[in-house]
Amino acid sequence: MPATVVLGMQWGDEGKGKVIDLLAGDASWAVRFQGGANAGHTVKRRGEKFALHLLPSGAVRKNVRCGLGWGMVIDPDQLIGEIEQLEEMGIEIRSRLLISPRAAFVLPCHAARDAAEESRRSGETIGTTGRGIGPAYEDRTGRRALLLASLLDEDGKKRFDAAQAGAGDDAVVSDAAWNRWRETIGPLLGDCAAAVHGALAKGERVLLEGAQGTHLDLFAGTYPFVTSSSTLAGSACVGAGVGPTAIDTVAGVAKAYTTRVGNGPFPTEAAGKDADRLRTKGFEVGTTTGRPRRCGWLDLPLLRSSVMWNGVTEIALTKLDVLSGMKEIPVAVAYEESGGTIDTVPPSPGALGRVRPIYEMWPGWEEFPSDVSRFEDLPSSARRYVRKTAGSLGVPVTLVSIGADRKASIRCRIDP
Ligand code: GDP
Ligand code: IMO
Ligand code: MG
Repeated sequence: MPATVVLGMQWGDEGKGKVIDLLAGDASWAVRFQGGANAGHTVKRRGEKFALHLLPSGAVRKNVRCGLGWGMVIDPDQLIGEIEQLEEMGIEIRSRLLISPRAAFVLPCHAARDAAEESRRSGETIGTTGRGIGPAYEDRTGRRALLLASLLDEDGKKRFDAAQAGAGDDAVVSDAAWNRWRETIGPLLGDCAAAVHGALAKGERVLLEGAQGTHLDLFAGTYPFVTSSSTLAGSACVGAGVGPTAIDTVAGVAKAYTTRVGNGPFPTEAAGKDADRLRTKGFEVGTTTGRPRRCGWLDLPLLRSSVMWNGVTEIALTKLDVLSGMKEIPVAVAYEESGGTIDTVPPSPGALGRVRPIYEMWPGWEEFPSDVSRFEDLPSSARRYVRKTAGSLGVPVTLVSIGADRKASIRCRIDP
């Protein structure tokens, strides 16, 4: 059984954590392939809530093995904290966690540089998560990054100190901190890519978990208001060490409306009461930074581009419950740009800030009954909303999420 990529189709926070946790029920591995602790993935089950930043969301299921691929940038203190937190919640993880030694460190100096660069940006800031992600990837591309592999070297600390010499006080790491990283993370380092290949060879399902979202991609996104890694499906191959032929499913996660944290264009952004309603009802507050998320309507041109760039084969539509109680729901079906109409995002990243969404009003529905478990149980307008979304994107919707808990999920197959 080959691999499934799960990724965000908007600007992050689509509900990837919830979807991964669900799909992990049929998988032997869940592997993160890019990004770092800028991610915040929420899993809720039986009233318990887990917020994962570096560990894959599959970690909540005790029989799923977890990998951190070499495409990631890893803050060792954050990682140790997350492992300990999970263990405090009764979930042992060390015996089933494998981390690629080729992944790069995120160090305190990276967070300091992240903050300094934000304050230097004269116009609009990017609104980063402040986790040092950009500077860590800069070091990686500049071929001066420190890789986790150095934890395995006897003289790793000496070489680490030499590499950091002259980088300022922020870059100093105490021997005590180093030893703690070495003792805790060292034993978890191993050949993640080979382990994944072993699982695939045995016919097991492997999930490759994306962080952030398509329009935060370093290349395809709303540059420069993007993150510093590639978030597209192709990046799963690069960051986990899996060839494209191993992937048979690309599950795109899309919220039934749109949100964005941080700055940058957002054509369907709502204002006033509409935005407040979505934010309050959807509890749209950043998992990583606690910032309120900008909220707006479903943007089909944005999603069409995501389908195209990722080769999305199925869609998980989340947070449909948040739209309940509206008479009509605006949905952007196309954009108006310099007098013409386009139905995908324009080629220049800045041009997305100048398009005008063309809205259709789709009929709304009352609150869902509490016992909905099948697609047919949903109000007819809600079913139509899902059908029209699948139809407009040309991709089947195979999961409809109607609440944060694992149970509030409807597996279905709504063909376009
Ligand atoms: P991720 O970064 O894509 O994993 O998404 P986040 O976890 O940052 O944000 C999604 C938020 O929505 C979390 O608080 C989830 O618990 C919650 N959530 C996920 N699916 C649903 C849903 O269908 N309905 C509601 N109301 N909340 C959901
Ligand atoms: P998950 O995986 C939403 C945004 C930041 C900022 C931009 C760059 O939970 O969906 P960075 O710290 O990466 O340099 O910030 O990207 N951003 C996210 N927004 N969800 C995320 O992750 C994000 N990770 C980064 O807000 O606009
Ligand atoms: Mg998130």
